[in-house]
Amino acid sequence: MKTEIIAHRGASRIAPENTMPAFELAYDMGAEGIEVDVQLTKDNVPVLIHDENVKRTTNGRGFIKDMTWDTVTSLDAGAWFSRTYTGTQIVSLEEFLRWAKNKQLTLNIELKNNKIDYKHIENIVYEMLAHYQLLANSTISTFNPNSVERMKQFQHKVGVALLASRKCGNLVKTAASIGANALHVKYRLLNQNLVKACHAKGMPLRVYTINSTRRMHAAFKAEADGIFTDVPDKAIAFRKVYNKHK
Ligand code: G3P
Ligand code: CA
Repeated sequence: MKTEIIAHRGASRIAPENTMPAFELAYDMGAEGIEVDVQLTKDNVPVLIHDENVKRTTNGRGFIKDMTWDTVTSLDAGAWFSRTYTGTQIVSLEEFLRWAKNKQLTLNIELKNNKIDYKHIENIVYEMLAHYQLLANSTISTFNPNSVERMKQFQHKVGVALLASRKCGNLVKTAASIGANALHVKYRLLNQNLVKACHAKGMPLRVYTINSTRRMHAAFKAEADGIFTDVPDKAIAFRKVYNKHK
């Protein structure tokens, strides 16, 4: 079984996370999937940024929820990372989908609604994926179980993953009971039994965030369906070596 290599926030080790240069690089490296984080602006535009506050990854201050898309476009989302990327802008989900549309890529759209429960974010993202005919290639994930439940009402099939960072009861059972059809866990939670339990329910199990070859080895051995990595080039090269020698 081939574990899918998913670029975490793009090729985020060598380019600013969640930006077009990071996505382009990941695609050029041969990543099979791209993971992005979504927050919602004051005027309901889904934008790609990990934190609720723009402080860490832009030259601005304040919360995305209090900014219009217009204001968001004036921010520099590259200079914090390196001078090379000065002038890089925050990307909207729509811009990202347009770029991804005709590429052989799976998309993992993580809703960042565990701290701020953005109203209607599930539907806004779902409708946009439907509009670009990308539902079949996409998984929408979230740490927010209520949000997973809300996605039960989607008409067409799309991946819906519960994210988990710590052990809490029977994760597979919980995920399935709230309507998730995939489970994404932190590397610490990975073990062969969890993968088997997921597969018994027909659910893929993916693991974040894996950057060392030791952890890549464990994920490939456990037959995880995918890994989220900041270093997709390294993961692809290591998977080749692993498959040759296993
Ligand atoms: O989607 C997997 C992973 O990205 C979740 O954690 O903090 O990197 O968004 P975080
Ligand atoms: Ca994420």
